[in-house]
Amino acid sequence: MATSRLTTLLDNGTPRLPDTGRILLLGPQADTDLSALPRDRCHVVQTFRPDHDALAARGFDCATAPDGPYAAAVVFLPRARELGQSWIAQACTLTDGPVVVDGQKTDGIESMLKHLRPRVALDGQISKAHGKAFWFGSTDALADWAGPETLGIDGGWHTAPGVFSADGVDPASQLLAGSLPRKLGPAVADLGAGWGYLSARMLERDDIQTLHLVEADHTALDCARLNVTDDRARFHWADVPGWEFPERLDAVVMNPPFHTGRKADPALGRAFIAAAARMLKPTGQLWLVANRHLPYETELGERFAQVTEAAGDNRFKVLQAQRPTRARR
Ligand SMILES: C[S@@+](CC[C@H](N)C(=O)[O-])C[C@H]1O[C@@H](n2cnc3c(N)ncnc32)[C@H](O)[C@@H]1O
Repeated sequence: MATSRLTTLLDNGTPRLPDTGRILLLGPQADTDLSALPRDRCHVVQTFRPDHDALAARGFDCATAPDGPYAAAVVFLPRARELGQSWIAQACTLTDGPVVVDGQKTDGIESMLKHLRPRVALDGQISKAHGKAFWFGSTDALADWAGPETLGIDGGWHTAPGVFSADGVDPASQLLAGSLPRKLGPAVADLGAGWGYLSARMLERDDIQTLHLVEADHTALDCARLNVTDDRARFHWADVPGWEFPERLDAVVMNPPFHTGRKADPALGRAFIAAAARMLKPTGQLWLVANRHLPYETELGERFAQVTEAAGDNRFKVLQAQRPTRARR
């Protein structure tokens, strides 16, 4: 495997990390190369459950929020610019030592560097493997980048920088919510519930007794707790394919994820469909919305005896599937 950017620069001894004290790692992913860092001194903050669990399995001390102070900080740049800025500002408040920022071009590292240059004295940078890493001494100069933790958007909803559809209701979810039947049954789930729009709309139904919101992004789930205050709601910070469902369900509703990072990845949606089929009672039904071009029908046909397109337009399709054929756990 090629040596990563972070390993290259730490092996070169620049920046020199303090010899003692904890090191904050904000946002590394499951497969990020962290081999140049002293694992027993690292504190990983990762809010996406599959990455969080994979890093914990690699032996890192993992949490969903920092708990400083730290001797140094490494920020792995996320895709959402506002979130990246607030992580960098947060890193500065949590350490007096060096702050390293590492990121891919496709995640906006070059534009972040451009915005930082006039505001902080950079101590160094390297370019490698379609990205950059740069570092500087912690500073107060970025205090105004510490963005709000939650955003208020039209409709009175709470979202947060970096969560899915942070600026407004997703049109596909809106189409699905408007296509659902008047009754869904007593036990239902919203898989990949995000900040809770679909769940809030589902709870307009009186026949629901329990609604499970299952979501891997801890930040989005925190927003969902603000948006869905109905006491029939149960919140689960979990990876849908591996979620240990507490009861068999009458209905599963979902707008499944279709990207891994920047890459379209229908395999994730297929894993959600397979998981839904396992969770449903034999009489249960799945309602899902997807971009029209996404090929979910084969997986649905293998997991359910009956599949119909219940609604749609030229961008999205709403599919209803009944009679799960592999309903065993
Ligand atoms: C297309 S969005 C839909 C969000 C929300 N239901 C809505 O309508 O706005 C898919 C959601 O699935 C979540 N997600 C992605 N991978 C997941 C996984 N493995 N387990 C649980 N949730 C996941 C994402 O964080 C995102 O919130």
